[in-house]
Amino acid sequence: MSNIVENPTAYFRSLVPARGEQLRAMEQEALTEEIPIVGPVVGELLYILARLLNAQRILELGTATGYSSLYLGQACAETRGRVVTLELDPEMAFKARQYIERAGLSATITVETGEAIGLLAQLEGPFDMAFMDIEKVDYIRALAPCHRLLRSGGLLVADNVGFGDADEFNQTLRASTDWRSVSIFSFLPLHSPEHDGLCLAVRL
Ligand SMILES: C[S@@+](CC[C@H](N)C(=O)[O-])C[C@H]1O[C@@H](n2cnc3c(N)ncnc32)[C@H](O)[C@@H]1O
Repeated sequence: MSNIVENPTAYFRSLVPARGEQLRAMEQEALTEEIPIVGPVVGELLYILARLLNAQRILELGTATGYSSLYLGQACAETRGRVVTLELDPEMAFKARQYIERAGLSATITVETGEAIGLLAQLEGPFDMAFMDIEKVDYIRALAPCHRLLRSGGLLVADNVGFGDADEFNQTLRASTDWRSVSIFSFLPLHSPEHDGLCLAVRL
């Protein structure tokens, strides 16, 4: 009978997906400037989920420098889809647009500057996928707008649900008949923080 590898942390760290120079430079910048980005494991997961959905429209809440947007944008470049990503901080939004342009994804990813909940009210659905990565205390306020904007069967991914501020969101989602969801406590190398929860929810 086979056993789990001796040092799972080191083992899974060795399996972190490869990525190009630009993403690595963004990771380095995030480390130096303490910008909490999803890192290559969740990034790759977002890419895979978007491809599986053959996503035509993806909504992202919380752009920062555009690291996760690039993974979503890579998937959309292949599905001929589009990403709309929302960022409160104009300087971050400016930086994200520069990285997106450098990656050749300006036609695929649009960065909207402003407070996410307000911007969501101005958007029209349907979206195939939404990725939530703003202040955790705001997740609960973003839940109903995301339900309105996602198509039936659309996917909501919420990062950092291991934070106490996400508790009301977690409890509401778990009890809701509008969603079917699962929260996973995971080891996520190069994610901020590396041990955290990730929630996947299907809009019913
Ligand atoms: C965790 S970072 C996003 C990281 C990004 N998703 C990535 O992995 O590359 C959160 C970002 O959301 C922005 N933010 C926080 N609350 C927001 C809100 N209510 N509306 C829009 N943006 C918000 C912050 O300015 C910050 O840049």
